[in-house]
Amino acid sequence: MPIDRNELRRVMGHFATGVTVITTRSKDGQPYGLTANAFTSVSLDPPLLLVSVDKKAESYPYFEESKVFTVNILADDQEALSRRFAVSGGPKFEGVAYRIGANGAAILDGTLGYIECKLSATYPGGDHTIYLGEVQEAGTVEGKPLLFFRGGYRAIGD
Ligand SMILES: Cc1cc2nc3c(=O)[nH]c(=O)nc-3n(C[C@H](O)[C@H](O)[C@H](O)COP(=O)(O)O)c2cc1C
Repeated sequence: MPIDRNELRRVMGHFATGVTVITTRSKDGQPYGLTANAFTSVSLDPPLLLVSVDKKAESYPYFEESKVFTVNILADDQEALSRRFAVSGGPKFEGVAYRIGANGAAILDGTLGYIECKLSATYPGGDHTIYLGEVQEAGTVEGKPLLFFRGGYRAIGD
């Protein structure tokens, strides 16, 4: 019998992660983005990473449409930003400070780092789609990460 979804969520929540906001854009340049922790480094040569995006997310179609996305790694004082981008749809970018990166997706201000990608492959992942991104540009600043563990936001040392 398959595991109950709430139990799966509970168990997976024991794996502590950082928190990202993955941004993408529509063909006409409208920014989209969602909070995500299903993100991992895949390969150094070529430089590849993956993210897993819910097919029901409003941002979902724009990954394929634009073929670009950017992973924004959140800092420990960006819980509010994480919560904002974890709500589906709406004017998420209103009042949020960001610039447009070389790939046309948003790079949010105040993050620990950003990784700009070109979509290089997509793989089926049940109710999600796995997007493999080839890294084009990336950068970091000093700071501490926002963490997610057992369904709650944490900081290092909590
Ligand atoms: C800590 C955290 C991690 C999340 N990780 C993911 C993820 O990896 N992939 C995903 O599709 N949704 C993830 N979500 C849920 C999305 O952020 C949420 O469904 C969001 O509303 C989607 O926005 P959109 O519909 O405007 O695109 C996560 C939410 C939180 C709070």
